[in-house]
Amino acid sequence: MSVKEKRAKILVIHGPNLNMLGRREPAVYGSATLQEINAQIEETAARYGMDAETFQSNHEGVIVEKIQDAIQGYDALIINPAAYTHTSIAIRDALLLLDIPIVEVHLSNIYRRESFRHTSYVSDIATARVAGFGKKGYLMAIEALGKTLDETRLKS
Ligand code: DQA
Repeated sequence: MSVKEKRAKILVIHGPNLNMLGRREPAVYGSATLQEINAQIEETAARYGMDAETFQSNHEGVIVEKIQDAIQGYDALIINPAAYTHTSIAIRDALLLLDIPIVEVHLSNIYRRESFRHTSYVSDIATARVAGFGKKGYLMAIEALGKTLDETRLKS
């Protein structure tokens, strides 16, 4: 990347109850807190010469507004919509506004769990999905975006 080139900016959105990671069903979601995960996301992004901004909300409308904010100024979005994955047409519609890569991340493999978690309103409009690798899923998404965005830059 040339010095003049702007650093890629990744927005990472965590949905409801993910602020309780660490104490929330650790056998399913792991023992790391959201703060710890966010620190690792930021470190990994920095290793790829990118900036990551992290955001969490328990409120559907607030998440919709944050996605709308990403219409400008971001190069990619990583989102774990948590329970809204399975219910929210509003979040899906907001994601359809974006013209940047979208990666859906889940800590758990939602397809090995209750049948109501098998439906995702996001998967068919996302660029990619990572599920079942715990917190590493976020880091894998960052790494994949780092490589993909770099290739896109090299081609353009
Ligand atoms: C989750 C899976 C969802 O079904 C659940 O409601 C969550 C977390 C995951 O990361 O595995 O809150 O998105």
